[in-house]
Amino acid sequence: MNNIIDISDVNKSYDIGNEKLHVLKDINLKVKKGEFVSILGPSGSGKSTLMNIIGCMDNLDDGSYILDGKDIASLDDNSLALVRNEKVGFIFQKYHLIPKYSVIQNVMMPLLIRGVDRKIAKEKAIEKLRLVGLGERLKHKPNELSGGQQQRVAIARALVSNPAILLADEPTGALDSQTSKEVLELFKELKEKGNTIVMITHDNSVANCGDRIIKIIDGNISN
Ligand SMILES: Nc1ncnc2c1ncn2[C@@H]1O[C@H](COP(=O)(O)OP(=O)(O)OP(=O)(O)O)[C@@H](O)[C@H]1O
Ligand SMILES: [Mg+2]
Repeated sequence: MNNIIDISDVNKSYDIGNEKLHVLKDINLKVKKGEFVSILGPSGSGKSTLMNIIGCMDNLDDGSYILDGKDIASLDDNSLALVRNEKVGFIFQKYHLIPKYSVIQNVMMPLLIRGVDRKIAKEKAIEKLRLVGLGERLKHKPNELSGGQQQRVAIARALVSNPAILLADEPTGALDSQTSKEVLELFKELKEKGNTIVMITHDNSVANCGDRIIKIIDGNISN
């Protein structure tokens, strides 16, 4: 019963002109607290569409979704945004750091936006940056770091507000193979520390780093 993600019979379509494109088809997906799960599928299979649902960035057509005990399916856009901020830490292929801010400022940002005191935000940001091995790079700007280091900053930023889940979309897509390995090792360490991770990828070897692979093909999940 301790599913942190509990998705049942979810459908999602897009309206294109007068037609409906049925993308996600009766999706069932359960993830337990502390699991590291990979979602694997080819281009166009519905991975990003599913990620948008899991990450509370989009509504579903029907079915149910409980995230960390909260019923998501019936929320309007504003409530969805609140749940997203509280419960989801995002990691993207291209890091999405703010170039003009230093490493520490980037990681403090999610806390400052919530009104957390500056001093506390700074302490928490330093703690997470140490955790990802970047305690010595606090004052650097993103463009003064390697790709792997930038992704570590993005991971620290995702962790800083202690989200219920980490949601990563092709987190190694922009990295060379050695750096990819290092980032995936970091995910494994974070899992060992109790974090729940959902990682989306089209790459078999990347997907293999998770505890479990969920395959999505043409909007259908085969567990
Ligand atoms: N906003 C949208 N409006 C209409 N159709 C969309 C929209 N977003 C995605 N689609 C369609 O839904 C299907 C699934 O797209 P999705 O982006 O989820 O695939 P994906 O698995 O993430 O692919 P990729 O690996 O290329 O990122 C595709 O056929 C796509 O054209
Ligand atoms: Mg995609």
